[in-house]
Amino acid sequence: MDKEINRRTFLKGITGSAVGLAAMGMMGGVAAAEEQEKAEPAVEGKKQFSGVHNIRKVTDDLVYLGVSDRRIELFENVYPIARGISYNSYLLLDEKTVLFDTVDRSVTGQFFENLEYALDGRKLDYLIVNHMEPDHSSAIAQVVHRYPEVKLLCTELAVSMIAQFHEIDIAKHGYTVTEGMELSTGRHRLIFTMAPMVHWPEVMMTYDATDKILFSADAFGTFGAPGGNLFADEVNFETEWLADARRYYTNIVGKYGPQVQDVLAKAAALDISMICPLHGPIWRENIGWFIDKYDKWSSYTPEEDAVLVVYGSVYGGTENAAGVLASKLSEGGARNVTVLDVSKTHVSELIAESFRCSHIVLASMTYNMGIFTPMKNFLLDLQAHNLQNRSYALVENGSWSPASGRLMQEILDQMPGMKQIGSTVTVRSTTNEESYASLCALAEEIIASLHGTLSDAPLTQAPAAAKWRCTVCGYVYEGDSLPADYTCPLCGVGADKFEQIS
Ligand code: FEO
Repeated sequence: MDKEINRRTFLKGITGSAVGLAAMGMMGGVAAAEEQEKAEPAVEGKKQFSGVHNIRKVTDDLVYLGVSDRRIELFENVYPIARGISYNSYLLLDEKTVLFDTVDRSVTGQFFENLEYALDGRKLDYLIVNHMEPDHSSAIAQVVHRYPEVKLLCTELAVSMIAQFHEIDIAKHGYTVTEGMELSTGRHRLIFTMAPMVHWPEVMMTYDATDKILFSADAFGTFGAPGGNLFADEVNFETEWLADARRYYTNIVGKYGPQVQDVLAKAAALDISMICPLHGPIWRENIGWFIDKYDKWSSYTPEEDAVLVVYGSVYGGTENAAGVLASKLSEGGARNVTVLDVSKTHVSELIAESFRCSHIVLASMTYNMGIFTPMKNFLLDLQAHNLQNRSYALVENGSWSPASGRLMQEILDQMPGMKQIGSTVTVRSTTNEESYASLCALAEEIIASLHGTLSDAPLTQAPAAAKWRCTVCGYVYEGDSLPADYTCPLCGVGADKFEQIS
């Protein structure tokens, strides 16, 4: 990659503007109060906890302090994570000491054991807050109380968030950084780059220009807790981790494809030898392979020419129709056809599989004159995650008034670049001779479409709309014109903060 790095002014020893927020009286909440109560005066070099450290060396002067949580059932109280999750944090031991993000409140005990051991009596000079979501920022107040000389470096938006989440003197500790600012820590030169909406608006990344390491915040993270093997090249990532990485990206960040594309464009201008994300393994080999996955996911490009069949069925009629179609697809030469029951499969997996596959078949019974509820919820979630550019086929079932096909199509028609293959197949309670023939015909059309995709026949794209980007958070508005009274749905600023980008 191009070694040229976009940089601006040296942040003079971080003597730039200390952020003035009134705030001590505005903050906090119960969590912050509890954290302050637990915090003890800083005593560098003295053990604060009775446990043992568990750290890993990343480079000669970079230490992994992260902690895995395998007890947690649901990440963000939504996503099942049978393999757990790690909250990654890193400590740079240069002439200055620099902590990159903290951890979730569930693992702060181990985290401080690690931090204290790794510092080995040294003071903590900087805490870089790349991301303010509490799974990475819950220990900020405790860090400040333990290391009162620490300087917090973050985006301007993160400063207000710190004041919302934590009861600390942000005017004393907080320093804002902007695109291209640099910090010299001795041997290392750290450069800050903004990454709004990957995955919150305040997100930034930090690039260590000395060792070519990108501290990428949530980007390039994954569900799953590393089992001692800290690096992606130490595990069978493609066979054992990729599905969780895809499910993590598509569900957590999938909605913000344009913003991720912006970050990938910035990354392409950097010489990157290592990526240190906030979840999951560190990347030091085959980085281009993983970046390519991100490029596909964030541009809503199918990862594979493959068919996903999702069905919603109560008494088995729709399930049978979906099964018949899948068999015919296989007979026609389609490989790796995936069939999932919408009622039993967590929606996060359905979302991830939809991002992976080029073709999606949706088979739903009619329920209360509408779409079977789990199928409707899935489709609305898919729409909310901004999926685009897929071929789809529909199967509806209804014993007296089938309606789910038309209603599913109404949702899919609102999603850009979606193209229906064939006609909707209608099943009346159970598959009969007529609907069996229709399923066979639909399978043939899907096969033909698959072959067409393989021979580079493009999907019909939605007409290109003009685009405006929010200069505060990066949200992209598309349409014929930007209404004068428009407000950003993400950060709330007005139309005057938008710039036209196409
Ligand atoms: Fe892992 Fe957006 O927090």
